[in-house]
Amino acid sequence: MMITGKTRLAGVVGQPIGHSLSPILHNAWLKAADIDGIYAPFALAEARFEAFIEGLRGGSVSGLNVTLPFKIRALAVADQVRDRARLAGAANVLVFQDDGTILADNTDGLGLILAFSSQAPGFNPQAGPVAIIGAGGGAQGAAAAFLEAGCPEVRLLNRTFDKAEQVANSLGKGAQAWTLAEAGSALHEVIAVINATSAGLLGAGLNLPLEVTPPDAVIMDMTYKPLITPLLSQAVSLGRRTVDGLEMLIGQARPSFAAFFGQDPPEEVDVRRLALDALEAGS
Ligand code: ATR
Repeated sequence: MMITGKTRLAGVVGQPIGHSLSPILHNAWLKAADIDGIYAPFALAEARFEAFIEGLRGGSVSGLNVTLPFKIRALAVADQVRDRARLAGAANVLVFQDDGTILADNTDGLGLILAFSSQAPGFNPQAGPVAIIGAGGGAQGAAAAFLEAGCPEVRLLNRTFDKAEQVANSLGKGAQAWTLAEAGSALHEVIAVINATSAGLLGAGLNLPLEVTPPDAVIMDMTYKPLITPLLSQAVSLGRRTVDGLEMLIGQARPSFAAFFGQDPPEEVDVRRLALDALEAGS
């Protein structure tokens, strides 16, 4: 591809960033749509985040995805914050507007809902309570997304009850705090269980009593390394439908792309295959 003076720039900031799959997704879409743009990874020292972002005001870069550990600080640097980002308590998208202002948004929640639509067709977030395991940023974002999608009740289950209670209070009506030890009761009658803890990441598993969920409940894990987490294997062995973290990553990337490049990503690219290849190659 030819880089010119008119090439539109976007990217992703995080630390570490070397294993991010986002450049693979966005650059594949740019190529397929024949857009004069590039999407680059930016690894920042933790202390440099605000200074880096300030320098981009005015639109020399059209926008950035923000990943760990900067998602909360990304809210504070913005002049305007979309409601869904405020509710999630974090931003994964910053858009640099021509007038010098910065808009913060959060597409993680939409990505989660898109992942359910694609891997659990017919799933309706309004059909009953949802259990979310964890009380960190990922859990709060997932809870906010389900409440926004019309879910009547979000049960936040966390090892440390106080944290679940704080998050439930900040979300308001519809959110309830539970301890992880109460999972046997909390998982009754749920339409979905979402793991938003780092337990899957460590491979330790959570040992949730998934057998108490209704047979048509959908089990989701936000982790995609490994793609099939211990929780998802347990769900498959019980015959439950599953949704994985890679589909959520792709789901949040779609509206991010539209915010940076002004059009939806082309449908025909199999970005999931590209991401799976990269994961297999250990990238
Ligand atoms: P995020 O990356 O989403 O912001 P975080 O703030 O790092 O997440 O929080 C990690 C979450 O995983 C917390 O809810 C944590 O529970 P505690 O609040 O009790 O610490 C949860 N977590 C991590 N390891 C866990 C484990 N082995 N079992 C259960 N929960 C675990």
